[in-house]
Amino acid sequence: MRVAMIGTGYVGLVSGACFSEFGTSVICVDRDAEKIARLQGGEIPIYEPGLEDLVAQNVGAGRLSFTTDLASAVSGADAVFIAVGTPSRRGDGHADLSYVFGAAEEVARALPAAGDHFTCIVTKSTVPVGTGRQVAEVLARVRPDLVLGRDYDVASNPEFLREGSAIEDFMRPDRVVIGVESEAARACLKGLYRPLYLNETPVLSTRLETAELIKYAANAFLAVKITFINEIADLCERVGGDVQQVARGIGLDGRIGAKFLHAGPGYGGSCFPKDTLALVRTAQEAAAPLRIVETTVEVNEARKAAMAGRVVDFLGGDPAAAGDSLAGKTVGLLGLTFKPNTDDMREAPSLAIVPRLQAAGARVRAYDPEGMAEAKKLLEGVVWCGDPYEVAEGVDCLVLVTEWNAFRNLDLARLKATMARPALVDLRNVYDPDRLQQAGFQYLGIGRGPSVPAVPAHLTVVTPRLAG
Ligand code: UDX
Repeated sequence: MRVAMIGTGYVGLVSGACFSEFGTSVICVDRDAEKIARLQGGEIPIYEPGLEDLVAQNVGAGRLSFTTDLASAVSGADAVFIAVGTPSRRGDGHADLSYVFGAAEEVARALPAAGDHFTCIVTKSTVPVGTGRQVAEVLARVRPDLVLGRDYDVASNPEFLREGSAIEDFMRPDRVVIGVESEAARACLKGLYRPLYLNETPVLSTRLETAELIKYAANAFLAVKITFINEIADLCERVGGDVQQVARGIGLDGRIGAKFLHAGPGYGGSCFPKDTLALVRTAQEAAAPLRIVETTVEVNEARKAAMAGRVVDFLGGDPAAAGDSLAGKTVGLLGLTFKPNTDDMREAPSLAIVPRLQAAGARVRAYDPEGMAEAKKLLEGVVWCGDPYEVAEGVDCLVLVTEWNAFRNLDLARLKATMARPALVDLRNVYDPDRLQQAGFQYLGIGRGPSVPAVPAHLTVVTPRLAG
């Protein structure tokens, strides 16, 4: 089997490298010549654990290569994956599909002559419901000489890769979803994923639209789950509960499941914010609005901003006032990326927090193990530091924004010695509040305030009288 992977972004590069690891011959295509040159030189443009080695091994074995020449890559391929970007279109939240359709046109022009070969054209990018069929229309328009089902077919094969563990997710997925309309396309995709049969990975074969919808529904459901526990955390702070224990208590119910119940500063990244928005728009247009997802989007946006207010309040400033109530104060951020093990800053909560702290008059110092180069392009006026201890120098408060392992076991005495005031706002609940207090820190976590506030009168517990 031979694969052409169009687009060497995050998804394309990981998927291409992993298919080649399965023993398939893969050519990765990108129109960005500089990127291709770097990849040919063994340089990986993104940070993803294990990817550099995987690429090097498979390039060395002659199974993986990189080119800007789409036509030659497509002409000999059994499967062509379209893994180009689908950014949110400015203004309306819809996914911008111009790159997908552009790639489809180029692929169509490069397909072999009628009767020569069967090529399966697969959308791997996350695309709105109906896109697969539109890709088929592009192919039919550009290549009226070819016969659908004999010379080519279209398919949908969404990815469920998490940044930071993408290779593991590709190699050991919970499931593989393939949206196909013909036996030939099904056989092609099943063949590519055959190595996964060894560990009995379920392969779900559906229609095109269903496969496209599975991807959006999965991401939206996870976003709802995170947002739900975040709101429960707020409630915990009001009524004296501990959100970690609530999460454990509900997560042990097999119908709910323990994952994605970590309260935090709100979800970010390249997928959840974009995909939830795109799904909301699709649903509105189909007159089947997804109100629960609409609310999730709103609540999550508000939450990221509210995290800055939390720090302002903690430092004795006025979170509601526009003035500079934190003038003269310095805040140190530990972590900037939307989650650990990535250099991705897209929609990261830190991007909402830093400018608001600065607007309140605070000076901001920050460190992130991998995200600083990206962060420097997006944030201004920050004092960039080389490690957590440098961040702590002279600050009135540290804010743990991203739960990198490097921040899990900091030397508290060393931090305390250099801080103006030993205080930690822990937006990821990494630290044990008691331990921090014993170490002399003022501590504020998420949904587990150190003191149990008085229960409001209307929530006073009334013990029911037993009958009889
Ligand atoms: C996500 C999906 O998990 C993946 O299936 C899809 O293909 C792409 O989008 P990713 O964006 O890499 O992957 O990150 P993920 O690990 O899912 O985390 C997303 C965001 O949710 C992060 O900001 C993370 O901090 C946040 N999160 C996650 C929480 O706040 N609490 C949780 O319990 C889990």
